[in-house]
Amino acid sequence: MTGFPHVTRISGITRFLKNFNHFQSDPTDKPFAVVNTRTPYFQPTPFKTMTVTIKTAEEIEKMRAAGKAAAELLSMLGKQVAPGITTNELNDICEEYTQNTLQATSAPLNYHGFPKSVCTSVNHVVCHGIPNDKPLKNGDIVNLDVTVLKDGYHGDTSAMFQVGKPTIKSQRLIDTCREALLIGIRMVAPGVRLGDIGHAIQQFSEAAGYSVVREYCGHGIGSVFHEDPQVLHYGVKGTGLELQPGMTFTIEPMLNIGKRHVKQLNDNWTVVTRDRSLSAQWEHTLLVTEDGYEVLTLRHDEII
Ligand code: MF3
Ligand code: CO
Ligand code: CO
Repeated sequence: MTGFPHVTRISGITRFLKNFNHFQSDPTDKPFAVVNTRTPYFQPTPFKTMTVTIKTAEEIEKMRAAGKAAAELLSMLGKQVAPGITTNELNDICEEYTQNTLQATSAPLNYHGFPKSVCTSVNHVVCHGIPNDKPLKNGDIVNLDVTVLKDGYHGDTSAMFQVGKPTIKSQRLIDTCREALLIGIRMVAPGVRLGDIGHAIQQFSEAAGYSVVREYCGHGIGSVFHEDPQVLHYGVKGTGLELQPGMTFTIEPMLNIGKRHVKQLNDNWTVVTRDRSLSAQWEHTLLVTEDGYEVLTLRHDEII
């Protein structure tokens, strides 16, 4: 159910939705405290007023172009993954391709001070790994998370790659995490609520024996990299924002083999599993259409 060619309902103005109930606390778990005024949108912040933008037809065209560029970049970059390459080398390839082939900008570079053009999260790194000079080795798994800024709009997507020979353990984690993303994507349609999607992702992932990271979430996206709504990968059915045509947001579940708990390293970016268990993540940027969804960052060889 992808690739709806037309968005017929066009809203010429940005509409603002208020919703005080989009953060769902989990009754089965203790609350966590990550709230401060500088918390970026990829960290859930409870009890905030939400401002969700509905994109115009013109904006949607630009989102399509940005998403396509991000998809091409991720495909290209994934092909470079092999034992011996460093994540800094991947970073340089990313930056060069973004500038010279895509005629675009790497949104991560200098974003809230992030020092590189791509996030490279290896093994027990959950997200926001900073490229470095350590070579990837046989058996590693790595998430490459790219965000392209093109003509004023963002496309954000990530995927997992195996280095050398896959292990059964990492392959199952990676496959389950991708399936969790696809389960979320296939639900996207007007009238569906974000809590329904979070719930489905959580149910599926936990039934498979993995834990879902809570401290980071998907997000609205457009001319702003991270905007409302926050898209949690866990939740309660029938709660949260109701989707409308013209909304654009990411879904980007992070699953751990061990416990869900994470910590941020002293570099103020790198997020790792507390128990050092392996973690996986996949991400797409989506558009809510009149009758479902469009995957704006769909890769050429990819079937949802
Ligand atoms: N691309 C990440 C996301 O999916 C955000 C990375 S922010 C950065 O939301 F600064 F680390 F690049
Ligand atoms: Co994102
Ligand atoms: Co991303």
